[in-house]
Amino acid sequence: MATQVLDEVSAFLAREHGLLIGGEEVAPRSGTRFDVVNPATGEAIATAPSAGPDDVDDAVRAAREALPAWRSLAPAARAELLWNLGTRLAELADELAQLETLDNGKPTGEALAVDVPLCSALFRYYAGWATKIEGAVATPSYGNFHVYTRREPVGVVGAIIPWNFPLLMCGYKLGPSLAAGCTVVLKPAEQTPLGALRLAELISEVGFPPGVVNIVTGFGETAGAPLAAHPGVDKVTFTGEHTTGQKIVEASKGNLKRISLELGGKSPNIVFADADLDAALAGAHGAVFFNQGQCCIAGARIYAHERIRDEFVERLAERARGIRLGNGLDPTTDMGPLVSEQQLERVAGYIASGRDEGARVVYGGERVGGEGLDGGYFVRPTVLTDVDPKMRVMREEIFGPVAMVASFADEDEVIAAANDTPFGLAAGIWTRDVKRAHRVAAALEAGTVWVNTYGMFDAAIPYGGFKLSGYGKELGREALDLYLQTKTVWVDLA
Ligand code: NAI
Ligand code: MG
Repeated sequence: MATQVLDEVSAFLAREHGLLIGGEEVAPRSGTRFDVVNPATGEAIATAPSAGPDDVDDAVRAAREALPAWRSLAPAARAELLWNLGTRLAELADELAQLETLDNGKPTGEALAVDVPLCSALFRYYAGWATKIEGAVATPSYGNFHVYTRREPVGVVGAIIPWNFPLLMCGYKLGPSLAAGCTVVLKPAEQTPLGALRLAELISEVGFPPGVVNIVTGFGETAGAPLAAHPGVDKVTFTGEHTTGQKIVEASKGNLKRISLELGGKSPNIVFADADLDAALAGAHGAVFFNQGQCCIAGARIYAHERIRDEFVERLAERARGIRLGNGLDPTTDMGPLVSEQQLERVAGYIASGRDEGARVVYGGERVGGEGLDGGYFVRPTVLTDVDPKMRVMREEIFGPVAMVASFADEDEVIAAANDTPFGLAAGIWTRDVKRAHRVAAALEAGTVWVNTYGMFDAAIPYGGFKLSGYGKELGREALDLYLQTKTVWVDLA
């Protein structure tokens, strides 16, 4: 049985929310709203305002107007607001986690363990940076000059985020940009606007000045595209599909806005024969099934050494069989529904293509209904083997709970196979051989390599892709740097 929805969550869903523009909650100019669907039931549970180009214009203007005061505000005052927002998120963890479940489908326990605490930690981490942004004194090679650099905010940031970690992604973008002194227009994904709408209320509650953060819920074509192309936006930070990233790059050329892109992946997870097999199995399971497999870093291509492959496949399938599918509000649920009907069709299409191309379905492979799951977008966690590197399931991002297990004979072979992909987001290595671990970590074309672990994240640790997985890091100091630009000042002392 699903846990009761908290009163404050029900009340939030029942209110009609507006866009956050210039510190006011406003209706979209067109008056248009769209349904927010609970993926566990397929039912509409709320509506959200659908921003159009005019609303984006208003939001960018508000962000521009707020910029001079925000960037010159005492850093300690910026820090305090960020810290207080982080604290508020932690205090409201139960409510926010339920909202994420209703919006995205993920188990509430996962949102409580990962999404909400990491989002809270992010705001507190970047609160610390607000008071530690400093330039340097430079020494010219001739003459008598005092030369120094200032680190200044890039200006107005457009942030466009996906639906897999709806609240957490707001933190990824807002934490470093606000600490740097930028103002922001944030566009959440149309599938999952609720976390951002709740965050809009909290931003006002903790006292951010009007216009520093503006939130425009809406669709990619009507709200995302005008934001990406807007001449009043100095930088766009985007997370989503690589084809959308390519459109964002196109749209940026008018004013040559700065861009950072966190795009998809097809991450390899390599299990050597000497690995601690229990640990590798648990790690591989989490790597591919966490968040219903809807993770950019999903370790979907598993390479198990030929000596252990059969045992690995069998035990991974056994683990998949043990996953309890259900409504994410139910505390006994291990895996919730996919985010939308469209995503369900996409994942089902990939499983079918794997079958057609000759992969063997060891477990799963079908949509699940009945026993309270009817109407929801549930798919059985799936293990495929006998896969070939040319198959679509081995080349394209599926973004669902589908594991492909291939085998390999030696280290060089598996490095070549792992790197044979246009993507380069992340990779995993499981081995007890310390030399091999470092050797293979160096050889893999990926922005993050996890050794004997997988999917670790921290506010302080940079993360982001190589190759088609994008450029520009998230988290850590490296993300902060992307919202700053260097000004050099020459003073003649002669
Ligand atoms: P998407 O890239 O289309 O959407 C992400 C965000 O971009 C949303 O806010 C959307 O409204 C916005 N957007 C869409 N078109 C835009 C445009 N022309 N200009 C500006 N903004 C635009 O991803 P979508 O369609 O939701 O998911 C499709 C696939 O993308 C997934 O199946 C998955 O493979 C991949 N994906 C990867 C993510 C990651 O974290 N790497 C996150 C979400 C999706
Ligand atoms: Mg799309």
